[in-house]
Amino acid sequence: MTLDPHAFLNTLKTRVNLTDEDKSLLQSYADWGATIAPDMSKAFYAYLNRDEEMNKILNQSEERVHRLYKTFTEWFAEMFTGMDEWGPQYANRRWKIGLVHVRIGIGPQHVVPAMATVVQEVSQRLKTDDKPEELKNALGRICMIDLAFIEQAYVEVSSSAVLRETGWTEALFKRLIAYGANTI
Ligand code: HEM
Repeated sequence: MTLDPHAFLNTLKTRVNLTDEDKSLLQSYADWGATIAPDMSKAFYAYLNRDEEMNKILNQSEERVHRLYKTFTEWFAEMFTGMDEWGPQYANRRWKIGLVHVRIGIGPQHVVPAMATVVQEVSQRLKTDDKPEELKNALGRICMIDLAFIEQAYVEVSSSAVLRETGWTEALFKRLIAYGANTI
């Protein structure tokens, strides 16, 4: 894999303008984040279950549902702590989450609205619990970073698979994509 998760995270932090103030604010609400994480997890999986395709994937086994509930809750809480100050550990964890979704075959068409649901659910909870607007903005930035990791994993995995199988150069592959986009 060519992507360096930590370098990618740094690029995204700059791109979404995640500031030191955002990080401190998130960490100061880490306990609150951990408290609401199980509710967010429930709301998230209720949303996924309403979709026929996602419902089928989710409910493949009882253990999968339990595992997901736990891992999603941890994921949510980590957005506040940043694990290692949003460093290499955070980047590697987000990258691995992206790879897991690619492996299972969950496409971007599912992931983008799913993250929008997270943003919407947490926004409502922020309002109910009377939390500041700045916290909502900081969380929105982190959600977009995490979303970019999952989305980028699709591109990285599929392009490296094609390059490996065909022996094409990256430049040729890009030309073919551009040509394909022009002809559709
Ligand atoms: C906001 C977007 C999403 C987030 C933040 C998220 C979060 C996570 C996390 C943290 C894991 C655990 C990864 C690991 O094992 O290391 C996971 C796995 C998984 N997610 Fe998602 N997910 C998202 C979207 C979706 C969607 C749209 C589906 C569609 C059904 C889905 C289904 C799954 C499944 C099936 C697994 C693997 C469960 C297993 O068997 O261990 N996720 N997700």
